[in-house]
Amino acid sequence: MKYNFDEFVNRESTASVKYDLRKEIFEKEDVIPMWVADMDFKTPDFIIKAIKKRLNHEVFGYSIRPKSYYQSIIDWVKRRHNWEIKKEWISFSPGIVPAINMAVLAYTYPGDKIIIQPPVYHPFFYAIKNNDRELVENPLNLRNGRYFINFQDLEYKLKDAKMLILSNPHNPGGSVWTKEELEKLGELCVKNNVLVMSDEIHADLVYKNYAYTPLASISNEIANYTVTFIAPSKTFNMAALATSSVISSNKELKEKYDKVLDAIHIGMGNVFGTVASEAAYTHGDEWLDQLMEYLEKNLNLVEDYTKAKIPQIKMIRPEGTYLVWLDCSDLDLKGKDLKNFMIEDAGLGFNDGRMFGTGGEGFMRMNIACPKQIVLDALIRLEKAINNHNSNG
Ligand SMILES: Cc1ncc(COP(=O)(O)O)c(C=O)c1O
Repeated sequence: MKYNFDEFVNRESTASVKYDLRKEIFEKEDVIPMWVADMDFKTPDFIIKAIKKRLNHEVFGYSIRPKSYYQSIIDWVKRRHNWEIKKEWISFSPGIVPAINMAVLAYTYPGDKIIIQPPVYHPFFYAIKNNDRELVENPLNLRNGRYFINFQDLEYKLKDAKMLILSNPHNPGGSVWTKEELEKLGELCVKNNVLVMSDEIHADLVYKNYAYTPLASISNEIANYTVTFIAPSKTFNMAALATSSVISSNKELKEKYDKVLDAIHIGMGNVFGTVASEAAYTHGDEWLDQLMEYLEKNLNLVEDYTKAKIPQIKMIRPEGTYLVWLDCSDLDLKGKDLKNFMIEDAGLGFNDGRMFGTGGEGFMRMNIACPKQIVLDALIRLEKAINNHNSNG
């Protein structure tokens, strides 16, 4: 491997959310932080080089996104995902969560029903509730270690909904929705005149043997109802550079989104984010392929270790994302007790499954985007704590 993902980078005292908010989030400073979805790996060298080059210019006045920026997105999406998009379809957002909030404002009215599929990324809930829309749940079904969409329930709920917010691939369940699943979902939305906000931020992070399909690539009809959200932020560990894209081939949808973006005047972005995004999408293939190989090994480590030594913890093996959903329901701990056990007894900073809504009780989300030694340390801590708990209980 050309890139060294084993390298330990000390992120403490760098204003890192994952490390420097431990006291605030877990009330404990020494938990191994495996929660917020960024990586402990260095952002790749070709991105750093591009930022340094721009930095050396030493003038940071108002800036635009050049044609080459858009072309790098178009080329990446075509090369990696076989989806042909056009510059006129691409809008900017500083992040996917703000983009989803803007989309809610652009396409729905207070009181409108918006569907989500829990357990799911928690800001989806807030995007609906904080904007006074009505939250409708279409809970996923867990069968034989994979999450599936409950289409019967979805069809029923789509009848009077205005929007569906989809996580493709799914966080935290890890399902990479198949083309057939997406086609079915898309056709149901078209039939019921429901827009789909397809959050595809994890699209690049798919393991071998699985294939990500951009929802909007399936048919023109589905594309007409879809707004797609992508970013280099998760893929290349550059979330703090706040640069992502909102894509729709439907001119009316794009214009409505742009109107909200313009109204709050945050469309300019950040020159370093622009430069970094272009470098990522232009030079990122080899690095990403190696990252996925490394992450797959971390995944194997968690699976093998839990199976062999802590069978009470069952990993839902993700098809994509570096987030591992751990089924802890065989432990005789629930809710607050399970959370406290992970923090106090195991010294682990996971995401409490309950924050992802219905179906999250009894689960923990573990971020494995870190050197394998950290994953191993966490598993050892977990094993010890569970053994202690078993012998005391
Ligand atoms: C499904 C999903 N969407 C969006 C985000 C965050 O997006 P952003 O940081 O661009 O707002 C995350 C981060 O974990 C995520 O998992």
